[in-house]
Amino acid sequence: MTSSEAGSPTVDWEALRAAAREAMSRAYAPYSGFPVGAAALVDDGRLVSGCNVENASYGLGLCAECGLVSALQLSGGGRLTHFTCVDGEGEILMPCGRCRQLLFEFGGPELILETPAGFLPLSEMLPQPFGPGHLPK
Ligand code: THU
Repeated sequence: MTSSEAGSPTVDWEALRAAAREAMSRAYAPYSGFPVGAAALVDDGRLVSGCNVENASYGLGLCAECGLVSALQLSGGGRLTHFTCVDGEGEILMPCGRCRQLLFEFGGPELILETPAGFLPLSEMLPQPFGPGHLPK
């Protein structure tokens, strides 16, 4: 699959990015000064989003993707299909390692991410992943 095919012409990436920017505008990031917003499509057509929420106990800060997966579960679950994330300038930001794992749980290797290098499946961003399949049934 090429990166342009993976982007899927039917997906309105501009709208998804706008939702991520809107989420970013609601971030609580007084300690890092680095607001982040994330948005994703769900396999039933829903759109979910999240922003980072920091804490005076710095290590407890929540990434934007944490809010996004929480919103996913709270609004009915499902599988994430397309994802984007932006920084305070509204520019594409790659999810941190922990958040790639969070996304893997709910989107699997086929989840399409918007990256500075084009639209890529999560399998390229989190190779040889640990996942639910490794746990005993
Ligand atoms: N951050 C996210 O929200 N998502 C990421 O994938 C990368 C980092 C947040 C965490 C922290 O509030 C701020 O960015 C600076 O690291």
